[in-house]
Amino acid sequence: MEETGKTDCLGTKPLLRVLAGERQAIPPIWMMRQAGRYLPEYRAVREKAGSFLNLCFNPELAAEVTLQPVRRFAFDAAILFSDILVIPLALGRKVEFQAGEGPKLEPLADGKAVASLRDRIDQDVLAPVYETVRRVKSALGGKTALIGFCGAPWTVATYMVAGEGTPDQAPARMFAYRDPDSFQKLIDRLVQASIDYLAAQLRAGAECVQIFDTWAGVLGADQFARWCITPTKQIVAGVRAQVPGARIIGFPRGAGSKLWRYVQDTDVDAVGLDWTVGLVYARDHIQPVKPVQGNVDPLALLAGGAALDHEVDDVLQQLAGGPLIFNLGHGILPETPIAHVEQMLKRVRKS
Ligand code: CP3
Repeated sequence: MEETGKTDCLGTKPLLRVLAGERQAIPPIWMMRQAGRYLPEYRAVREKAGSFLNLCFNPELAAEVTLQPVRRFAFDAAILFSDILVIPLALGRKVEFQAGEGPKLEPLADGKAVASLRDRIDQDVLAPVYETVRRVKSALGGKTALIGFCGAPWTVATYMVAGEGTPDQAPARMFAYRDPDSFQKLIDRLVQASIDYLAAQLRAGAECVQIFDTWAGVLGADQFARWCITPTKQIVAGVRAQVPGARIIGFPRGAGSKLWRYVQDTDVDAVGLDWTVGLVYARDHIQPVKPVQGNVDPLALLAGGAALDHEVDDVLQQLAGGPLIFNLGHGILPETPIAHVEQMLKRVRKS
């Protein structure tokens, strides 16, 4: 599993080589939420765009903010600039982002509201996102991979049901217990939406996609199997039916002891580890089955100094002996100093 410079259909991009199961001497690196408010150049474009959704649906500006972190840090991947909540929008729901308050949606109260959703996403709504993918792809160098993404059905459903972010996603969990049939219909619709959305991103030029299940960790074991594993598995199969050989990273944040089943059952190509996953466990039980991605605590990156060095070294020591994509264990925090990102990169690249 050493670096070989092979030029089969996956090419020589280090991140794609890792997704094919190869170890790279220096692991490819990118950061979840790498385009964002910690960058002054992002804040400038964001202001110009007006609202956050205007930025997501403006291909010129969205491509620019996608490329900014790659230009500044020479990351091994660009991640499409968009949001997981464009899917409820494309299913006919109202979605707004209020400055400093996060997303606001019209809450999905009951089975009747679920039945009123569109059957399939409105691809006209999402066309600007695919145009962003095309623009970014044509601007990227030969070593940088382009990652597309969606939210996992469970995570998107939590925002749709509550209408906003909540600490433990109680509204969606209650909905699922009280009316599992309607909740299943919602998840089924999100599965189909995710398949169509990811396949379109891949056709537009994304080279792999990540499924963000940010709220997987609030589910009990049975619910995790039903609302996280099964829908993810359906998306993976559905995307590959449309785009043969599609490369897919799963990120079930907070899965804990259920991570192993997720890795066994979903057929993703690689698994993103949140920062709570033990490195020795990941090395011995997850990495032999699938390449791993992660998992420095975003708070260690914010702290910087010796604490950051220690966390970076730990990940390298335990996981760089196998196929690893170096990343954070969740998104970078907006208040993170740029110098800390540079410190982490230097250490990973031994430069
Ligand atoms: O750089 C990248 O990673 C690409 C772009 C990206 C964004 N959101 C841009 C964004 C990606 C991959 C996401 C995913 C996303 N969006 C997730 C899953 C990953 C995660 O972080 O857990 C979730 C849960 C969302 C939903 C969402 N979007 C919330 C809850 C919020 C408000 C909280 C916050 O971080 O501000 C957003 C807004 C958002 N999405 C911003 C950005 C850059 C900030 C908005 C702004 O600039 O005003």
